[in-house]
Amino acid sequence: MEPGRLEELYDWLRIPSISTGGGEAKDLLAAAEFAAAIVRRAGGEAELVTVEGGNPLVIGELRARDEGAPTVIIYGHYDVQSPGPLEAWQSPPFEPELRGGRLYARGAADDKGNFYPLLVAACGLFESGELAVNVRVVIEGEEEAGGESVAAWVKADERGADCAIVFDSAMEDANTPAITVGLRGCVSTMITVTAQPRDLHSGLYGGSVQNALHVLQQILTPLLPDAEGNLRGELRAGAVPPSAAELESWQQLRPGQEILDEVGATPLASNSGDDFRRRNGAEPSFEVNWIEGGAARTVVPAQARAYVTLRLAPGQDGAAMQAELERLLRNEVPPGVELELESHTATPSLFATDLPAIKIAREAIDRASGMKTALIRSGGSIPVVADFAAAGIPVIVSGFGLADDEIHAPNESFTFDHFDLSERCARELLQALAALPRG
Ligand code: BES
Ligand code: MN
Ligand code: MN
Repeated sequence: MEPGRLEELYDWLRIPSISTGGGEAKDLLAAAEFAAAIVRRAGGEAELVTVEGGNPLVIGELRARDEGAPTVIIYGHYDVQSPGPLEAWQSPPFEPELRGGRLYARGAADDKGNFYPLLVAACGLFESGELAVNVRVVIEGEEEAGGESVAAWVKADERGADCAIVFDSAMEDANTPAITVGLRGCVSTMITVTAQPRDLHSGLYGGSVQNALHVLQQILTPLLPDAEGNLRGELRAGAVPPSAAELESWQQLRPGQEILDEVGATPLASNSGDDFRRRNGAEPSFEVNWIEGGAARTVVPAQARAYVTLRLAPGQDGAAMQAELERLLRNEVPPGVELELESHTATPSLFATDLPAIKIAREAIDRASGMKTALIRSGGSIPVVADFAAAGIPVIVSGFGLADDEIHAPNESFTFDHFDLSERCARELLQALAALPRG
């Protein structure tokens, strides 16, 4: 990647466009304007579109060299997760720093740095008059916050596209690029239990009144996985088992045990390592992410809160699973105790490996990288992918992150050499998609 281009990425990374709390609207706007300016400088069109007070979307266009070319949406997100404790960062999160072959910054891998080579590839091909497909640019600012602006935009957009490219995922390993054909969905729920009007003395009232933390524990317990690591049947409804061919293809990938060992994880069940690919790609999972309530003194807590997430396997229905999760939570609430639930849902997605777009993409990435591209599933979620799919747009989900980029954590980074690798693959991919059958 040209030095000037890298400088431009560093400047984008310097904008603290945090969407998950602690961020400022002016920075989200600045990051959106910054991306729009990149498209405009290349000679393309770009505007900011705001849906019902959400963070601005960047919607742009780079026209193909020839009339009648297929249309390809390129997608990334400019919003980032909050950096967390600053003292845990070796260099400040919004001052990009190159160390040991990695670029460190919040957003270096998720997603500014991961998406940027795709944007640069499209702009570069357009500027030199080579661009073989119509490129529509869609960059959102609410991906990390479960925002709905981009979903509303995709739904209302009448023009559509012949396919979309999403660079917001990772390689299988440093020698294996990947196309992520399956992503899990996610129901996120904030739970508030109110058992009393105020905290009460545990000696004077304990044993006679409801305790909010006890109620919280009671309602969460039935949702936990069993000793084999499986969720109850109601929460697995609709999950589609992978085909024999797909299970077989996962055997060629890195063993799941290695993935768990890499982070020193304690397995949930005896076969969690061996069964990792299937569980992570084709099973739902439930996590309690956060709990708050009470105090380390003799009180009966009046209120307790928890944040929980149910990852959904491909095939599961987002609305139905949100309703089921909420039903199970409400089931166990004792009389008189108030339960408040606030949920957001992202739908899972899965693409057939023989789709023309996937085949073209695989071959293009093979050629440009000189490596063998794997078709994988990810346990993570990218909500817009299901929105594109619902609009009849096949999606090539890829990107050149690695498992150890520490996205969402302190010291997030991106492999420096992957900026070039990614740009090369993105150029080849965009040009190859000219062969896509037009819808
Ligand atoms: N880019 C990630 C998801 C991801 C990471 C997919 C690595 C594949 C490989 C995305 O920004 C993300 O963090 N998504 C959230 C979505 C949630 C807020 C609905 C997630 O998965 O937690
Ligand atoms: Mn992302
Ligand atoms: Mn993310």
